[in-house]
Amino acid sequence: MNRLKQGVGRLRSHRILAAAAAVAVVSGGISLVSIGTAAAAPGCSVAYAANSWDSGFTASIDITNSGDPITSWALEFDYAGNQVGGSAWGGTLTQTGKHVKIVNSAWNGSLAAGASTNVGFNGTYSGTNAKPTSFTLNGTACNGGTTNPTPTPTNTVSPTVSPTATVSPTVNPTPTTTAQPGAHLDNPYVGAKWYVNSDWSAKAAAEPGGSAVSNQPTGVWLDSIASITAPSGSGYATSLRGHLDRALAQGATLAQFVIYDLPGRDCAALASNGELGPTEIGRYKTEYIDPIAAIEADPKYASIRIVNIVEIDSLPNLVTNAGSAAGATEACRTMLANGNYSTGIAYALSKLHAAGTNNYNYIDAAHHGWLGWDSNFAPAATMFADTAKKATGGVNTVDGFITNTANYSALNEPFVKISTTVNGTSVRQSKWVDWNQYTDELTFAQGFRNQLISAGFNSNIGMLIDTSRNGWGGSARPTAASTSTDLNTYVDASRIDRRIHAGNWCNQSGAGLGERPKAAPASGIDAYTWIKPPGESDGSSSLVPTGADNPGGKGFDRMCDPTYTGNGRNGNSLSGALPNAPVSGAWFSAQFRQLLANAYPAL
Ligand code: BGC
Repeated sequence: MNRLKQGVGRLRSHRILAAAAAVAVVSGGISLVSIGTAAAAPGCSVAYAANSWDSGFTASIDITNSGDPITSWALEFDYAGNQVGGSAWGGTLTQTGKHVKIVNSAWNGSLAAGASTNVGFNGTYSGTNAKPTSFTLNGTACNGGTTNPTPTPTNTVSPTVSPTATVSPTVNPTPTTTAQPGAHLDNPYVGAKWYVNSDWSAKAAAEPGGSAVSNQPTGVWLDSIASITAPSGSGYATSLRGHLDRALAQGATLAQFVIYDLPGRDCAALASNGELGPTEIGRYKTEYIDPIAAIEADPKYASIRIVNIVEIDSLPNLVTNAGSAAGATEACRTMLANGNYSTGIAYALSKLHAAGTNNYNYIDAAHHGWLGWDSNFAPAATMFADTAKKATGGVNTVDGFITNTANYSALNEPFVKISTTVNGTSVRQSKWVDWNQYTDELTFAQGFRNQLISAGFNSNIGMLIDTSRNGWGGSARPTAASTSTDLNTYVDASRIDRRIHAGNWCNQSGAGLGERPKAAPASGIDAYTWIKPPGESDGSSSLVPTGADNPGGKGFDRMCDPTYTGNGRNGNSLSGALPNAPVSGAWFSAQFRQLLANAYPAL
């Protein structure tokens, strides 16, 4: 699998954007104002969150209709200061002086009694970014603090919350749920017991210190037709049914599978080339997706929330590495031209969604170091939406997206935020950031979620972030911002991600285990999850001929060779890969030990 195809984005995005246009949801510092009203018709409550940096901010507003059903709405409020809102997602914003009005989008005008929606926008300000304190919805005051001083028990927030209450930035609006066979949940991870793949656990536990993490849930990769039934001699220890039966035995209520066998798979790299040729879409449908969907539809497994992670790297490759893109490969050009990535994914979404209400589809959305540039960001969301619309059930077949699968991008960069400046110069101009609009995965996942909703996905989609190997702990981890006034020195000494280049993706030297799997860790994020099983190689560091050590005929990509000095996609840098690596998917003991040693949070 290849993970970085930023070259084109990089080349096209070499232009300075005004600070006011910065698109970032900066972690930390979010505060919410929650104001409730009585449940009389009409009624509303509003939670306004603002996330500020030097002169810009991102606002996120949750609107709850606590009155009778409505079919359209206009939210109005006034700023006390000089804030100016930009174009909104989830609505259309107009501003006259300090007065802001946001009218619903076509898809979220109807709000049933008790229903909520979210709108947001980026804005600019100077001085103090005070939050507005009064809101109206269709002319009705939502400001319980002044017009409804006595909140009733039907309030959506605790009556003890004052209008200036500050809550943790990790608040997630997803309600707590319990396992209910038959119900399709907004966030399947909440309240679930996750399946632990004991095949992986055994390998992890056999390593020194490995038992500290060997009971963690990890993704099960269905990376070939044989992986579905695991016939003897295939190299697979457990079939799909075997995993699901074991999940039942564990009392698990959630299991995660990676759907990964598209025709012409991994078109921009060589280490995870697949078994199906570019035109074998028929086999993908009938020999791969159909049998998986049939097994997942078995009522025996109805108590398990089955999460399908759909086709790593494929659509992002079509955005940055196909057609006339500078980084295009012949294989990706072929897959864009024949449409089989898009056809295959639409088919997978249709079939797996229809397998049951306990099935959940999350499409792979690369990572910030791939899609974070302006030239890739919106086009990718549009391509994802165009693909999903081809599925039977359209965008409703998609529950969310996953970022950073099998990649190493840091979750948070506390000292290199997109708003950070060094001696008056934005870190966006540093060699490391290279004009990207994002510096870490959490802000990227949250920002991209908004873009996906703008592109047509449902407003309740959730993001997953693969935190299996993005910990970057150990003694090399910076504990404070550098004091250097030289831009590149500052960024290189301050960044959590210690890679030589953000385009490096194979068996990275210095990486550690990241956040442990966790449900609803931050706004818009359904879970942090370990989809790449830590300790499984990304690719061999030299060619391994097909045979006992390479039963699947995996290719050799020089990005896995530590002596390789790179190409345009990684700034012609050293690959940063560990030496002596086996083929992708095979156990790589030295890498696992390094991941343990550099875990962050520490074990
Ligand atoms: C490989 C798969 C493997 C997966 C998880 C991918 O890079 O191509 O064969 O199952 O990683 O380790």
